[in-house]
Amino acid sequence: MNKPKVIVTRKWPALVEARLQELYVVQLNESDIPMTADELKIALQTADALLPTVTDLITADILGVPNKRAKIIGNFGVGYNNIDIEAAKKDGLVVTNTPHVLTDCTADIAMLLLLMSARRASEGDRLVRNGQWTGWRPTHMLGQKVTGKTLGLIGFGRIAQAMAKKAHHGFGMKILFTDPYPPSQEIIDGLQATQCATVEELLSGANFVSLHCPGGEATKHLINEQRLKLMQPLAHLINTARGDVVDSKALIRALKERWIAGAGLDVFEGEPNIDPGFLELDNVALLPHLGSATEETRVAMGNRVLDNLAAFFAGQEPRDRVA
Ligand code: DGY
Repeated sequence: MNKPKVIVTRKWPALVEARLQELYVVQLNESDIPMTADELKIALQTADALLPTVTDLITADILGVPNKRAKIIGNFGVGYNNIDIEAAKKDGLVVTNTPHVLTDCTADIAMLLLLMSARRASEGDRLVRNGQWTGWRPTHMLGQKVTGKTLGLIGFGRIAQAMAKKAHHGFGMKILFTDPYPPSQEIIDGLQATQCATVEELLSGANFVSLHCPGGEATKHLINEQRLKLMQPLAHLINTARGDVVDSKALIRALKERWIAGAGLDVFEGEPNIDPGFLELDNVALLPHLGSATEETRVAMGNRVLDNLAAFFAGQEPRDRVA
């Protein structure tokens, strides 16, 4: 039987690219330059599978290209708001993602940002590098204590639960959450977590708020000016979910005018372009979408795509099918 042809839109870890090359006729992207809309359309017309990642916008227009050969889109990433899922379904395309394998690393980054923001780590690092540190003193760069505080999680899926585990068992934090689809009572009890009836209740009750909801229209600007004003003045906002969940302009005002003490951000509206307002602020820790960026996890994500492809081409249901 002829090997299926697959097109990979960005550079993947070498180990996974080598495995792909053993199994398929592969077009890799060695330059790692994002593909244009036209190149993505041609890919759908010339390959059996397209393997994009979370930064490739797979729009209805791209999916609607005539004479498609592709039958499956294997997204490299757990989030799939980069793909117009309704259009993919209409076209009978199977779409898969890469859940589970990036849970802990993304939760680690959320915890890292929480600590960085609370303890003013980015600001301190800049001070040392700029030769402005004049020595220890009792009132220098005081932040907020983390241990024993209250962490509010908006969205209580796998990554939020992993963060809650670290925060509750490691830092003695009390856990609040909101989620339209809460996990089992056993999981909630294991974390001694409390479900809040509304986002508003959570925002006013938490010292740290971490976002873990999916991106997309339904959650766009969920955190807006009105809601930022409900947070406590010494609270911190952490975002490792998707940039457009937060209204950037409102957050910049909140940080500048000290409605809240700080923020830690791994994702941004319109990334990699960042609102320059963030760059002028000392009380925000900024990371370049590093949630899943460990060698182990990126290899595991690639392997997850491979498992989904193998199932699909064997005529079985891929385990991470989302459309
Ligand atoms: C995802 O997988 O959705 C992340 O944002 C990238 O790790």
